[in-house]
Amino acid sequence: MTQPLSIVGIPGSLRKDSLGRALLRAIEIALPEEVTFTVLEAGDLPVFDRDVETTWDGRLAEIKAIVTAADGILVCTPEYNGSYSGHVKNSIDWLTRGSNPFKGKPSAAIAVSGGVGGGVQAANHLRAVLMHLGSPNMPTPRLNLPKAADLFDDDLQLVDEAARRYIDRFIPSFLDWVSRFTD
Ligand code: FNR
Repeated sequence: MTQPLSIVGIPGSLRKDSLGRALLRAIEIALPEEVTFTVLEAGDLPVFDRDVETTWDGRLAEIKAIVTAADGILVCTPEYNGSYSGHVKNSIDWLTRGSNPFKGKPSAAIAVSGGVGGGVQAANHLRAVLMHLGSPNMPTPRLNLPKAADLFDDDLQLVDEAARRYIDRFIPSFLDWVSRFTD
């Protein structure tokens, strides 16, 4: 019997009321029950610096193990100045030290934005990084939420039906993509 899939979500924003994190939560709720979903908490990673790398005794091994163990990676970035956030790149840079857990592991890059663009540019830039790391990145369908603040209520629950349908179309394609690379 095939094992249930496990997915790790890598958030690109640290803030408490992050809409990207709200999107990851909405995805978690919509996933089939048997799929395991873990959001990577990498907020305690310092800004990457090779000098710091040799002295920092934080939990890099722990967060690397979470990504290594997952079947697929869902990276969710906000759009910042037409690209992905510094936090998401910092997480990726730390995660690739020592060994590269992205290599050969399927991924998708999704985004939220404050403006009308949906973070398409941010996701495209992120996609290039993931492909550089050897992660087969799902080309379509894409998941980009424009004007993200209008889609969630004050408790950060998804309330926009069109966005919900968009997520519901994305999930089976992503799980199918991940399955293609899983034994
Ligand atoms: C933004 N935002 C933004 N929005 C957009 O549509 N295009 C952009 O280029 C930018 N640039 C940008 C830069 C910076 C520094 C900030 C702080 C914000 C808005 C941003 O995408 C939006 O607030 C997201 O909701 C932020 O993600 P989280 O923190 O809610 O996950």
